Amino acid sequence: MGFLGLHYRIERKTMTLAIGIIFAASIGGIVEIAPLFTIHQTVEDAPDMRVYTPLELTGRNIYIREGCYACHSQMIRTLRDEVERYGPYSLAVESKYDHPMLWGSKRTGPDLARLGGKYSDDWHVKHLINPRNVVPESVMPPYAYLARNKIRTDDLGLHLAAMRKVGVPYTDEMIANASADAYGQTTPDTPYAEGVAKRYGAATNIRAFDGVAGEPTEMDALVAYLQILGKLTDAAHKTTTAKAGE
Ligand code: HEC
Repeated sequence: MGFLGLHYRIERKTMTLAIGIIFAASIGGIVEIAPLFTIHQTVEDAPDMRVYTPLELTGRNIYIREGCYACHSQMIRTLRDEVERYGPYSLAVESKYDHPMLWGSKRTGPDLARLGGKYSDDWHVKHLINPRNVVPESVMPPYAYLARNKIRTDDLGLHLAAMRKVGVPYTDEMIANASADAYGQTTPDTPYAEGVAKRYGAATNIRAFDGVAGEPTEMDALVAYLQILGKLTDAAHKTTTAKAGE
């Protein structure tokens, strides 16, 4: 056969064979690398996108510490059943400030990418204390201790500074006020709360997430984070033609 004949001839010439192997092996590399050259056209713009507040960032760290990503994804695919269940599919830009990203690869529980605003704070607190409180058939583990643990706020400026190193646009003012802002987000109607609204926008959720104002707990932080999921930008609602979830 012509092709086999060619193969036999190439096999006998070391250089030709080496070049052939490099060529064949590089196809996979090119397929993966080439799209990166157009990444600027691929990733959407979201000028309205805001960064996580210090409290939300703390909640995100708790989410990572507790391994919530092992059961929950944060990425809605473009498939129709997903869009109908969860809402507009996820855009790359929505993970812009996520270091590390938490897309996940397993869904024992539902996707959480559009969770913000779906339930009340009170629902989340009851659910996290014991999921069976609100969903009798749930297999999710309880996290009641989150309500008892106070968060550490004195090192939050360093957390923000670290995020800035990897590209999140935290300002000097945000970094300097990180501890006060974590407190302020859980204590409405105080000068601290005003500072949060000033730095992160008037639409920022400022309230006692766990039901008790002041002294932020891990419950406050995690619920603040859950309530902002999918809400940092509304680019997905504008860019995709999909209808928002119920
Ligand atoms: C062992 C797997 C597992 C782990 C770990 C887990 N969950 Fe869940 N989660 C579930 C399942 C299953 C459901 C669906 C039943 C329910 O609502 O409790 C669920 C539901 C939820 C819901 C409701 C989502 C919706 O749209 O109705 C939220 C919010 C949630 N989990 C948050 C968390 C957080 C935060 C953590 C980490 C602290 C966590 N989960 C850890 C399995 C898990």
